[in-house]
Amino acid sequence: MQKFPSEFSDLLSPRGQRILSGRSPGDTALFTRSNKYFANFSNLIRRETAEDCMRLLNDSLYQSLHLEQSGIPAETITEMTENYTEALPKTMHIKTAFFRRRSARSYLAAEKIGLIAMMRSESFALFAEVLTGLRLDRERNIQVTCYEQGDYAGPHNDHHPASEYLKDGFVDFHVMFTNRAVAHHYLVYEEKGHFSKIVSINNQGGVSIYRLPFWHYTTPLAGRPGRESEARRWLLLGSFRILDPDE
Ligand SMILES: [Fe+2]
Repeated sequence: MQKFPSEFSDLLSPRGQRILSGRSPGDTALFTRSNKYFANFSNLIRRETAEDCMRLLNDSLYQSLHLEQSGIPAETITEMTENYTEALPKTMHIKTAFFRRRSARSYLAAEKIGLIAMMRSESFALFAEVLTGLRLDRERNIQVTCYEQGDYAGPHNDHHPASEYLKDGFVDFHVMFTNRAVAHHYLVYEEKGHFSKIVSINNQGGVSIYRLPFWHYTTPLAGRPGRESEARRWLLLGSFRILDPDE
């Protein structure tokens, strides 16, 4: 595979195809039938295709990602004057590309391998729409992230009150690729005001879907002993504004 297909649907496994065409009713309209706000699926991309996608990302995009890091400020401890008043800003250590500038190296690399077109394809949005049951704006923000040994995103809620596009909440759609050198990687998220849910996001060709904002974090990716330097998990992200029913 030299390029991503122009439609996301061409990556799908038979189960993924069934969901997209509405033939798997238990997996559709998840966020409108209940008060659910997160769901995670494995094996929605054909296994061999997922391996090909990962190879393409490693060979053609990895070099142009930039390191996005924000550590724990020392002052969160040194300038604390009262017990139990600690507050943690958003922390993270990941490699990413936001695709905001068409002239950026990462944009050009992603465009060359057909990734931008696929993440902007109708079936990429439609899949998120079928899973959630929500009508989604076809405009979208796209991003690619790569986690390696020790990479994580600290607790945050993805509320963007200053963004006209995202301020009223949005749907995040994640497509995941991982390799066998990864031992584990988890998402921890809130339920009823506590970080009480944990789910493995180390699944090849899986998909997860979020109705944001809510609090969550990802644990540090851990490679298998002796294979830490090979461990890599890729994430294709689309963020969609939820349309009003009469919009
Ligand atoms: Fe997040």
